[in-house]
Amino acid sequence: MHLQIALMLSIFLLCDAKLPRFKQHTISNGLTNPKQNTQAMRLLQVEAKNEKTSAIVGEYKTRHRRDVFDSKSYESSLTWAHSERLDDNGDVLLRWVNSDSSITFRLEARTRGYVALGFNSARNVRGADLVVAWVDDRNGNAQILDCHGPDYQDLPVADDVQNYELISGYQNDTHTTIEFRRQLDTCDKQDFVIGEDTTQILWALGPDGSDGDLPKQVKSSNRPLRLLLPVSKPDSIPLRHWDVRFNNLTIPHDMATLFWCKVFKAPDLAKKHHIVGYQPIIDSRPIRDGKPVVEKDSLSPVHHMVLYECAEDEDKHLWNNWADTEGYYGPTRPSGWATCARPIAAWAIGSKGEFLPENVGIPLGEKGGVSYYMLEIHYDNQALHEVLDSSGIRVHYTPALRAHDAALLGAGVGVSALHVIPPKQRRYRTVGICSPECTNNTMPEEGINIVSVLLHAHGTARKISLKHVRGTQELPRISQENSYDARYQQSRIVPGGRKFLRGDTLITECTYDSTSRDKPILGGYSAQQEMCLSFILYYPRTELAGCYSMTPVKEFFETFGVKEFSKLSFMQVENIFLSSGNFENLPPQPDFTMKNERDRRYIEDGAVQGDDQGVSLLKDLIIWEPLEFRNKSFMAHLNEMPWAEHLLTEQIEKSLYKGMHMTFCKKRDDSWGVPIQIQNYPNFTEVMDNDTSEKSCHYKSVNLPSSVTKSTTGLGSTKTISSLLLAACAIIMIAR
Ligand SMILES: *[C@@H]1O[C@H](CO)[C@@H](O)[C@H](O)[C@H]1NC(C)=O
Ligand SMILES: *[C@@H]1O[C@H](CO)[C@@H](O)[C@H](O)[C@H]1NC(C)=O
Ligand SMILES: *[C@@H]1O[C@H](CO)[C@@H](O)[C@H](O)[C@H]1NC(C)=O
Ligand SMILES: *[C@@H]1O[C@H](CO)[C@@H](O)[C@H](O)[C@H]1NC(C)=O
Ligand SMILES: *[C@@H]1O[C@H](CO)[C@@H](O)[C@H](O)[C@H]1NC(C)=O
Ligand SMILES: *[C@@H]1O[C@H](CO)[C@@H](O)[C@H](O)[C@H]1NC(C)=O
Repeated sequence: MHLQIALMLSIFLLCDAKLPRFKQHTISNGLTNPKQNTQAMRLLQVEAKNEKTSAIVGEYKTRHRRDVFDSKSYESSLTWAHSERLDDNGDVLLRWVNSDSSITFRLEARTRGYVALGFNSARNVRGADLVVAWVDDRNGNAQILDCHGPDYQDLPVADDVQNYELISGYQNDTHTTIEFRRQLDTCDKQDFVIGEDTTQILWALGPDGSDGDLPKQVKSSNRPLRLLLPVSKPDSIPLRHWDVRFNNLTIPHDMATLFWCKVFKAPDLAKKHHIVGYQPIIDSRPIRDGKPVVEKDSLSPVHHMVLYECAEDEDKHLWNNWADTEGYYGPTRPSGWATCARPIAAWAIGSKGEFLPENVGIPLGEKGGVSYYMLEIHYDNQALHEVLDSSGIRVHYTPALRAHDAALLGAGVGVSALHVIPPKQRRYRTVGICSPECTNNTMPEEGINIVSVLLHAHGTARKISLKHVRGTQELPRISQENSYDARYQQSRIVPGGRKFLRGDTLITECTYDSTSRDKPILGGYSAQQEMCLSFILYYPRTELAGCYSMTPVKEFFETFGVKEFSKLSFMQVENIFLSSGNFENLPPQPDFTMKNERDRRYIEDGAVQGDDQGVSLLKDLIIWEPLEFRNKSFMAHLNEMPWAEHLLTEQIEKSLYKGMHMTFCKKRDDSWGVPIQIQNYPNFTEVMDNDTSEKSCHYKSVNLPSSVTKSTTGLGSTKTISSLLLAACAIIMIAR
């Protein structure tokens, strides 16, 4: 994955002017068919743009306005709200602060060449908004250039309108530091609109001395960030902390996916406190041949962590013993741990942790209340190192109680192999429903207030939204991410909060891009499988801890054309799924009888290998009806379906999305809020999606003189050159 990104970015030629192979191409081709013709036209346009770009760069390079440059005096005195290292070494540091309409960046990078920053919804340069800046080694002048990557190639060219404003730029022996500003929405089609969604921040550094030359970069990469996050500031009052972490747990080298759970006893507190935030503690020591691995790329395998509250019974002795154990491999943990069901902190890769809004806290140390917690860590050990791991969560708490007791609620699609995403799909949607019966039965009369939401899925998810339905009308989205990136998961504050009444419905919808996959993706906990979940922070606390849905087994298999399996009835299969998916306390099913030893094995496997969420069962189910699939395993059947046929996948998507849903309503003591139900997708009027809404633009851009934008020969006339000088001077004047 990383290699692929690196390869994609390695053709990040910054505003490079030279394109010999395109020239050859356009001359030697006879431009016979219309398709080629369009392509040739495009290339000609690109070439013109590149010449224009090189003309601007050339102008910058030939100016000698200053010989001595006291860089420090131009540094802004802004207070930076955010600061992120864009690479693992800390060679590229980005700071920024925004107002309602503009955003100011400071980029510090270990190079004396150019620095480049890009914004995009995809992880590559195509269609990206790019900005390149450098400090002239001879005279200390800083330069900035607004570029973009066209949609059809990886080669940045200068924008027609320059929307980036240089504030300061200087370099010392090792670093180049540039400060610049832009509008959030520049109203320029060649620029990216910086909004609430996750943005891919692309960056590249030129080799030392590459001031205007803009050859290939020496280093480049990308990382996802949300630029408009509110600043999360912990209270000024001192906080205490409780470190919930494993103690040198050995992760075997041959386990790519491991879920480890351990119970912890909370600190002994005389009175109720409030948890107000948490931060990850990542402490992983990869080992090879008995020795620590010290390579820089030996990243921690910690993928996500969830801390749950346990509803322990009277037997404190038992819980104390459990708290003394090293913990258990997820599926083999003691059954009593199933009561550790209410999440209180959910961390996933890419997050620095969270502080709760100032009006809420999660209770800790209540008299007679919860005092045991379970930490669950998902290790994604793709490097297959042996790892000595002491990771966990630092919980911040305070005796200064806040206005409301908050809790987290999990909602979405129940994690099971029946959550199927077909391969080769650009936009495939699935939904999980939290039923009105469930919220009606578990919430207080006046409803709850939703504060923030963490949207969670894995690598192929591109959009996640949390919908809110009251009666037959959808209300505005509670939360929505249109450029989801599983490497960056941070909860999203719901502006102004949201009143959610009992009897309202919650719908978590995920949209996946599976074009890179050849086989169907099944739901599950491994990073290669998929999920569709939201963790909702709300107050006041209720007993509700989890509210999910999945397609009923019969409807699921029928959707894929299967009428009957050779050994097990659909009902039996359903029972296996429900028991392995941690949905315990099932009412006994009348026809649940095990015919033979083989069937028994399924059941037992299901219970023991609960972590595979039914994947091995799908391999073992042999189709009996219809005849055309007879003797095939369901998995083989699934793998061989003609997924490239759009009508088929559309039909499947619609039937699973708008069809029947089996809903689960789990309370924090592991009992059911309402019994499992099978219901139709709710009938409601959708709200308009605001993706395409018009934005009003008031910002006046800095225009390059028209003679430049129209010029196709770039350096051709003196008029062009003097206009370029003007443009460049205009930019520099803003800068100083
Ligand atoms: C050069 O600038 C960088 C970034 O501002 C700074 O971290 C570093 O300490 C500076 N080095 C010297 C030798 O001043
Ligand atoms: C884990 O073991 C190492 C030595 O092997 C020790 O330095 C470290 O403190 C231990 N970590 C914890 C959390 O006990
Ligand atoms: C909600 O619960 C009340 C009783 O608590 C009941 O009268 C009402 O019909 C329920 N509504 C729904 C939509 O289930
Ligand atoms: C779209 O914007 C309008 C007006 O700002 C708002 O009322 C509506 O709820 C928004 N729709 C969604 C889906 O958020
Ligand atoms: C299915 O397998 C059984 C037993 O292995 C065999 O008798 C039967 O002919 C097979 N049916 C088909 C349609 O292949
Ligand atoms: C959904 O609701 C609308 C209006 O309330 C109604 O006209 C329509 O028939 C309903 N559809 C279904 C499938 O119930």
